[in-house]
Amino acid sequence: MKLKESLGALYKKLVEIFTPDVKIDMDRVPKHIGIIMDGNGRWAKKRGLKRSDGHRAGAKTLEDITNYCGEIGVKFLTVYAFSTENWKRDKAEIDAIMELIYEYLSNMEKLLGGKDCRIRVIGDRSRLSDKLNEKILEVEKYTGDRTGPTLNIALNYGGRDEIIRAARAAALDVKEGKKSEKDIDEKYFSSLMYTGDNPEVDLIIRPSGEMRLSNFLLWQCAYSEFWFSNTCWPDFTPKHMRMAIAAYQKRNRRFGGV
Ligand code: FPP
Repeated sequence: MKLKESLGALYKKLVEIFTPDVKIDMDRVPKHIGIIMDGNGRWAKKRGLKRSDGHRAGAKTLEDITNYCGEIGVKFLTVYAFSTENWKRDKAEIDAIMELIYEYLSNMEKLLGGKDCRIRVIGDRSRLSDKLNEKILEVEKYTGDRTGPTLNIALNYGGRDEIIRAARAAALDVKEGKKSEKDIDEKYFSSLMYTGDNPEVDLIIRPSGEMRLSNFLLWQCAYSEFWFSNTCWPDFTPKHMRMAIAAYQKRNRRFGGV
């Protein structure tokens, strides 16, 4: 794997150097970007590697893209690491993804050093191992007061599940007399989402050629712009981010107005 890993990194460097660059307006960078990190399995298969190798390469891409987003001033980055439906995969693959996430959280100070980054995990934690849950709490605690960019890692996350949880929380508030039925408006309901204190998601990026949302940020993407790419996530580079942001900056966001 080591040689193929180095070749993969070299390939990404060459793409960065030899394909035309894309300029973005640094004053209009999206505040909140969501990424569906797709295509790790296909990337690995094409190279005769294991799916878990694809996820490892995907974790490296996440490190680079998080750092790049911090550099250009993206304030919130939400990445889809594991969905409520991904439990259908082989146990070995699930274990490998969970282990990678544990490693990433354990090493994040080094990986994202100096970025003053705040890490949060969004999703249903009840199915995660005690070991992973402890690590999540530890990282969220020591990064919690930071004022730099926020990285939300969606883990055992499902958009429908999130909306149902919010509905239950709202019902409980009404039952306990903390809210009346009329208080349930968009602002209050948004505050019950995992991303309650984050700004709206401006841009959703999905690599690997798939063009669907797969239960990601269903509530939050009501007015998001979408950008798709055929490149698999492990091959994704800051240049792809610039392509996505440049496309976003050309869009005319009307939010239902004219
Ligand atoms: C989708 O690609 C990817 C996943 C289900 C896992 C994403 C996980 C990582 C990038 C690992 C690291 C995460 C963190 C937070 C460190 P796929 O497996 O569905 O690819 P395919 O569609 O080509 O099979």
